[in-house]
Amino acid sequence: MSGPNDNYDPKQVSALSAESLDAMVADAVAAFAAADTVAALKDARLAHAGDRSPIALANREIGSLPPAARKEVGQRMGQARARIAAALQARQDEVAAAELARDLVAERVDVTLPVELTPEGAQHPITALIDRMCDVFVAMGWEVAEGPELEAEWLNFDALNFTPDHPSRGETDTLFVAPLENHLLMRTHTSPVQARTMLTRDVPIYVVCPGKVYRADEFDATHLPVFHQIEGLCVDKGISMAHLKGTLDHFAKAMFGEEVSTRFRPHYFPFTEPSAEVDLECFVCHGESVGNPDRPCRTCKSEGWIEWGGCGVVNPRVLISAGIDPEVYSGFAFGMGIDRTLMFRNNAADLRDMVEGDVRFARSLKGVAR
Ligand code: DAH
Repeated sequence: MSGPNDNYDPKQVSALSAESLDAMVADAVAAFAAADTVAALKDARLAHAGDRSPIALANREIGSLPPAARKEVGQRMGQARARIAAALQARQDEVAAAELARDLVAERVDVTLPVELTPEGAQHPITALIDRMCDVFVAMGWEVAEGPELEAEWLNFDALNFTPDHPSRGETDTLFVAPLENHLLMRTHTSPVQARTMLTRDVPIYVVCPGKVYRADEFDATHLPVFHQIEGLCVDKGISMAHLKGTLDHFAKAMFGEEVSTRFRPHYFPFTEPSAEVDLECFVCHGESVGNPDRPCRTCKSEGWIEWGGCGVVNPRVLISAGIDPEVYSGFAFGMGIDRTLMFRNNAADLRDMVEGDVRFARSLKGVAR
């Protein structure tokens, strides 16, 4: 005869005993407490609360208990797991906070420490002004043309109607390049680009030509042996002095403000006829400094007008030397010094600053061309 089944005694399933569950909780809490990084805590979590942890394995045993015992053991198990989960959560918060605090200390930046600054540069004011001048013309549909600085004497002088004995061909004014029989020179103005343009482009022509020019000149506050000019040339049907005046008025206003007026004084250039020098009414004192010692003007030296450049109607001889029929086409041309323009437009007192390459000069005039 078989005896009755023993009453179920939870202690027989030792993994589910209260002591055993308490021990698992204690082990888990101790392991969590010992983990002091997020990574170590993750390992502790897997070991003590993961799928293969002692408590998870014990949990599986519940199913094999007689139904009568499941409730009590289940509650005990639930409490044990809840304690483990709570301990884990608390430790996770602590470890994350400690890790953040450690990182903040390790990555702290002392903003008062001296730093190595990369000095800020600036576009050269001449380059900026050239861009600005070209923009004014490009906006009217003109093109920008460039020519070489080492130029043929013929293009620099002959094609522009300079006579063979013209004084500026002398070696005291012009830098010829040896050997002399090659008739090469450093161009003395941007006007040879006019000749080059007429020889290479079809009419109608509307071009501006900025660039460096060279003269056997002093190097002082008001003279440079290398400086910059911008040349303008228009060749089309029916072009007159009136178009020249309108164009230069617009150019002057774009550079010096709406208020500025221009004045044309008769002059002589071999490549234009008639020729003129164009002056700007002083855009600082508007002439009020003239004869008024109480109110001197540095910009126009109290003269009321500032010499800006040369201009004129293209000489028919120049058109002919470029193969353009002066009976059909006419044109105008002008040329201005860019360094000089920068000087009086932006109060740059000494021309030598333009070439000495001191970045402080460029920085001091940063953005002035806009
Ligand atoms: N090439 C002249 C100079 O260097 C400036 C000039 C005058 C240019 C009259 C021109 C012009 O195009 O028409 O002084």
